[in-house]
Amino acid sequence: MDKILVHGGPALRGNVRISGSKNSALPILAATLLTKEPCIIHRVPDLSDIHYMLTILSELGCEVERASGTVQIKAETVITDAPYDIVRKMRASVCVLGPLLGREKEATVSLPGGCVIGDRPIDLHLRGFEALGAAVRVQAGNVKVLAPELRGATINMRGKFGSTVLGTDNIMMAAVLAEGTTVIDGAAEEPEVVDLADFLNKMGAKIEGAGTRRIIIEGVKELHGAEHTVIPDRIEAGTFLVAAAICGEEVTLQKVAPAHLVSVTEPLQRAGYFVEANCDTITVRRNGGCLPLELETQPYPGFPTDMQAQMCALLATSQGISVITEHVFPQRFMHLAELKRMGANIELQGATAVINGVDQLSGAPVMASDLRASAALVLAGLTADGVTEINRVYHIDRGYESIDDKLNQLGAKIERVKGSK
Ligand code: UD1
Repeated sequence: MDKILVHGGPALRGNVRISGSKNSALPILAATLLTKEPCIIHRVPDLSDIHYMLTILSELGCEVERASGTVQIKAETVITDAPYDIVRKMRASVCVLGPLLGREKEATVSLPGGCVIGDRPIDLHLRGFEALGAAVRVQAGNVKVLAPELRGATINMRGKFGSTVLGTDNIMMAAVLAEGTTVIDGAAEEPEVVDLADFLNKMGAKIEGAGTRRIIIEGVKELHGAEHTVIPDRIEAGTFLVAAAICGEEVTLQKVAPAHLVSVTEPLQRAGYFVEANCDTITVRRNGGCLPLELETQPYPGFPTDMQAQMCALLATSQGISVITEHVFPQRFMHLAELKRMGANIELQGATAVINGVDQLSGAPVMASDLRASAALVLAGLTADGVTEINRVYHIDRGYESIDDKLNQLGAKIERVKGSK
C-alpha cells in the first residue's frame, strides 16, 4: 500500500486549481441511468470513488467513455442488480437505487454497512421509496425496492441528525419519473443537491426548490440526454483553505464557488486570517496569530462535517482552547488519536473535541482512518517538526485529486512511496 511522507516546514504560496466536486459527480453519474440517451459530464474528478461509480455503471449495462475530466455515458439497456463486490467498496453506490427504481421500477443493491465515521443507516432513503409506492425488502445483505408504479407523495427527509444528502438525491431521482407531484420536506440544502437537480432539469425533469428545505418535483414520462459541468469541490477547496491557514504565506484557490464556502471562510476570518473572495477565487493570507474557535458541524449552510477533521488539525496549533462539536456524525473523531500521537492536546467529551493549542506538532507515523481524517493528517504534517508518515493513503485517493502534487506545487515537500497493493 502507498504511503505519504510529509516533511514539515516549508511555507505555501501560489495558486491552486480546485477540481470538480466528488459529492456532486457521484449522484450525477448515477442519474445518467435515467435515460437511454447519451449524457456528457464535464469536470469529473479523477478519484477512486469516481472509478468505482463508473465501474458500477458499466456492470449495470452502461457504455462509459472517459477522456480526462469528461465522461460520456449511455445507458441504453440496464440491469437492476448492482454487483456486491464493487458496491461494498463505496457507500455512495447506494445512490443508484433511486434512478434504477425511477426507470425500471425495481433495484437491488447491497446494504451499506457501518464505517469508521459511525453507523451509516439508509432508513430515510427507504422510507422515501415506500412513500412513492415501492415495496422495500431487506434480505441476505441486500435491499430490494420494487414498485409496479411510482406515485408522487409528500415525504419528510429529516432524521435525528438533520436531513440526508444522498437520501434527498435518491428520492429526487426516483420521483422525476413518478406519476404526479412529489414534495420533499426537510430536504438537504447542500449545493451538491442543487447541482444534481440542475442536471436532472437539463434532462427534462421538472424540479423546483432545490437548495431550500422544500423540493417540488412534477413527474414526467421520460428524460433525455444532457450535458453538464460539475460544480467545484467545496470540501477540497476548504481543505486547501485550511492548509493555507496552517502554513501559507499567501495562497489563492482558483475555480471555486466562494458562496459555497462561507461557513469555512467566516471562521478563518474570525480566527484572524485574511480571506478575500472574488468571483471564482479565494485568497488566504496569514494575518498574525491564529485565535481559537468554537465550531459546530451542521448540515449546509452550517459548518460542514467534512471539514471538521481538517479544522481540528489547524486548531491543534492555535493559541488557546478551541471547541468543535460534531452534530452530523457524532462518532467522527478517529483522527484525534492520530493527532495526539503528533503531540496535539485534545480531549474528547461526548461529541465535542476540546483542543488546547500547542506550539508545534511533531512528525510521527500515523494511520489514515477515513477520507477527511487522512487529509487532516497531511495538513498537520505540513507544520509538524520532522516527517509525518501517513499509512493507508488509499483513503485520501478516494476524494482528493493529486493532493500531494497540488500541495507540492504550492511549495510543500510531500513524497508518495509506492508500496505493494
Ligand atoms: C453525504 C456526503 C458526505 C457528508 C455527508 C454529510 C456524499 C457522497 N457524501 O453523505 O461526504 O459527510 O453527506 O454532509 O455526498 N442518516 C440517517 N438515515 C438515513 C441517512 C442518513 O439517520 O437514511 C443520518 C446519517 O447517519 C448522518 C446524517 O443523517 O448522521 C447525515 O447523513 P447523510 O446526509 O445521509 O450523509 P450522506 O448523504 O451519506
